[in-house]
Amino acid sequence: MNTPSQHNNFIGPEYPNHVKGRSIYVDDIPVMEGTVYIKIFDATIAHAKIASIDYSEAEQIEGVIKIFSAKDIPGENQIGGIVPDEPLLADDEVHYCGQPILLIAAENEDAAEDALHKIKIEYEPLEIITNPRVAFAKGKLLSPTRKFVIGNSAEVFKNCKYVFEGTTETNGQEHLYLETQGAYAYPTEFNSIKIFSSTQGPTAVQRTAARVLGINMNNVEVDVTRLGGGFGGKEDQASTYGTMAALVAFILKRPAKCVLHRMEDMRMTGKRNPYSSDFKIGLDDNLKILAYEVTFYQNGGAAADLSPAILERTLFHCTNSYFIPNVTATANSCKTNLPPNTAFRGFGGPQGMFVIEAAIDFAAKKIGVEPYTIQQKNLLQNKNELPYGQIIENCEAEKCYNNVMQKANISQLKNEIENFNIKNKFKKKGFAFMPICFGISFTHTTLNQARALVHVYTDGSVGVSTGGVEMGQGLNPKMIQVAAKALGISTSKIKLETTNTTRVANTSPSAASSTTDLNGHAVQHACQQINTSFHSFIKKDLQLNEEDIIEFKNEILTVNNQSKNISWNELIAKAYLARTNLSAKGFYATPTINFDKTKEKGHPFSYHVYGTALTVATIDCLRGTYEIDFVKVCHDVGTSMNEKIDIGQLEGGLVQGIGWMTMEEIVYNEQGKLLSNALSTYKIPDIYSVPKKIDFEFLDTQNDNLAILKSKAVGEPPLMYGIGTYFAIRNAVLAFNSKSAITYNAPITPEKVLMGLYNK
Ligand code: MTE
Ligand code: HPA
Ligand code: MOS
Repeated sequence: MNTPSQHNNFIGPEYPNHVKGRSIYVDDIPVMEGTVYIKIFDATIAHAKIASIDYSEAEQIEGVIKIFSAKDIPGENQIGGIVPDEPLLADDEVHYCGQPILLIAAENEDAAEDALHKIKIEYEPLEIITNPRVAFAKGKLLSPTRKFVIGNSAEVFKNCKYVFEGTTETNGQEHLYLETQGAYAYPTEFNSIKIFSSTQGPTAVQRTAARVLGINMNNVEVDVTRLGGGFGGKEDQASTYGTMAALVAFILKRPAKCVLHRMEDMRMTGKRNPYSSDFKIGLDDNLKILAYEVTFYQNGGAAADLSPAILERTLFHCTNSYFIPNVTATANSCKTNLPPNTAFRGFGGPQGMFVIEAAIDFAAKKIGVEPYTIQQKNLLQNKNELPYGQIIENCEAEKCYNNVMQKANISQLKNEIENFNIKNKFKKKGFAFMPICFGISFTHTTLNQARALVHVYTDGSVGVSTGGVEMGQGLNPKMIQVAAKALGISTSKIKLETTNTTRVANTSPSAASSTTDLNGHAVQHACQQINTSFHSFIKKDLQLNEEDIIEFKNEILTVNNQSKNISWNELIAKAYLARTNLSAKGFYATPTINFDKTKEKGHPFSYHVYGTALTVATIDCLRGTYEIDFVKVCHDVGTSMNEKIDIGQLEGGLVQGIGWMTMEEIVYNEQGKLLSNALSTYKIPDIYSVPKKIDFEFLDTQNDNLAILKSKAVGEPPLMYGIGTYFAIRNAVLAFNSKSAITYNAPITPEKVLMGLYNK
């Protein structure tokens, strides 16, 4: 591994607490006297009119305080973020199994649970649609169709030597954050409410609760300590539970807690959007891809949620790491009777990338070349134009790809695998390369802004608040590092405060892998302002010249690089006595970015993250099971400011991607009922299914970029390396049965492998 120049192994104060079980999540907050417990009564039919509902008997159960229906909502019964199409509580119709209808508020959970069984409801069934193509055919869309066009694909196909068409499917994915959705709210003075929420989007919770309660946003305070994982599942959907707790607390004037059990969470919440897609790819003699057409049918579920934005990111990533001069990409967000699907690490990017990889794989097999030959010939280069108009700069695609090719010694590896496959009748190996190119920034330009609040206390210690949420990605340690560097003091002097909407307002959700960049720059900005007032005090106090350069090194003052033997603590105390401002609010809005939705052109990303993974897998041809021998990656992280955290993100993302592509199988029946509704029926990667060896190398790069301290965003991109595992396993199947009719349908579960091995 290359050691990045700013090597730093600071992990922050969080992690020892996690390991010892001392970190505080929503369900760990000590409960106040008089706390009310909330249970949700949800729909058992995926699409129906509610003919009648009777909860009079349930309300009589001892301990039940009140049952809330849509009629009890004082403000608007509306939680839709992008499109106002989703009620908090179903009114007269239900649109998916698991849709909340009533809230039971009780003195304890048992009473609430008992009440659930005494509610009488009658439905008049309506047509249930679970398939996005069926929804599309019936004109059921959640948002208008989007189209990205560059060049003229239809015309260019006529001149292509090779043209191939096909279809792909990718299934959803359950977030399975360790901490389920939940919130705890209590009423405060002046008709206000305070909500402790497990959310990636404190402001989204604040805005939604204010709307539903019919009060101003300044009457709602949201506080987040940290999440036991979010993975996108709490970008939008946490607002539901925050608002429910707020509603009950607001009306009953008592603290109210709503924390989902695992099966409730799996049943009620949306997941990664499944996609069904059609592709057409055209290549010339030299295997250059000249034209590509793709149509995406996104399964959005019963309400828009974030699906329209996810759809857009799919389009942005539909050519992955390749330059294709003629592209027509069409995307439809289809309305079905499933829980509203939502953000999930990659945010539609992985779904788009899978299709182009399948198209390249399909073409390679038809032409009789290795997929990597096509991949390599079409990698992005500087000055290439992407289908949405952004021009590629500081491209690292080839460097990463070639690095892995060389380190893996591809010709030797190919030989070894071929020999293995000849020698072993019932074990076969396959390999695949997976390059990635992922755009960093919210695609919605407005969201690329952040604020921070920094206080220096009179004893020299520092408190930092940002709009970002720590969910395991290592935001807080990185914010501490940024502040420590900017102020010139030790990380141990700095505390990261909770995320709170009264300290830092108008937060963008912690998402798009941009939290660290956005909030880090805001922290830097705040620290710079403190430095300005503090340093001017020092100059006056020590009678220095205006031009003298003041810095703190290890908390000791240096003037023009000369140590002065006066400590930070001493000078801060003096500065306070002399009435110096030691607090500042920082702000950052990403420069250079823009996007015009009317033209579908612009420069939406501050930069791109590149990388390549090589995966080798072995399948058992009697059982259909498989093992991943190794994954070898060269990843562009710019100049890592925290190697340990970045490796954690790389490994976690890769394994989560492997889960999506190989074993995590969400199954709804035709009636829209979730069958994979518990950990007994939904399999996620465990210690036995992770690659036997993961070898990450950071790309050695001097390229400039807009990342915080040049340490590029790392949260989502590694997930997409998991796509390589799909193709490695599929190639192993073809090594056993070259005539296999195995389709491009992920996840490639052992069942699908087995059927693929023996079909014709
Ligand atoms: N890592 C952990 N441990 N837990 C999480 O919930 N979320 C991922 C990624 N890594 C997540 C995680 C997602 S979906 C995103 S967008 C980024 O972290 C968000 O953090 P960042 O913007 O600081 O990268
Ligand atoms: N990524 C992640 N989350 C988002 C985005 C995005 O581009 N836009 C809105 N929410
Ligand atoms: Mo991540 S899907 O942008 O929360």
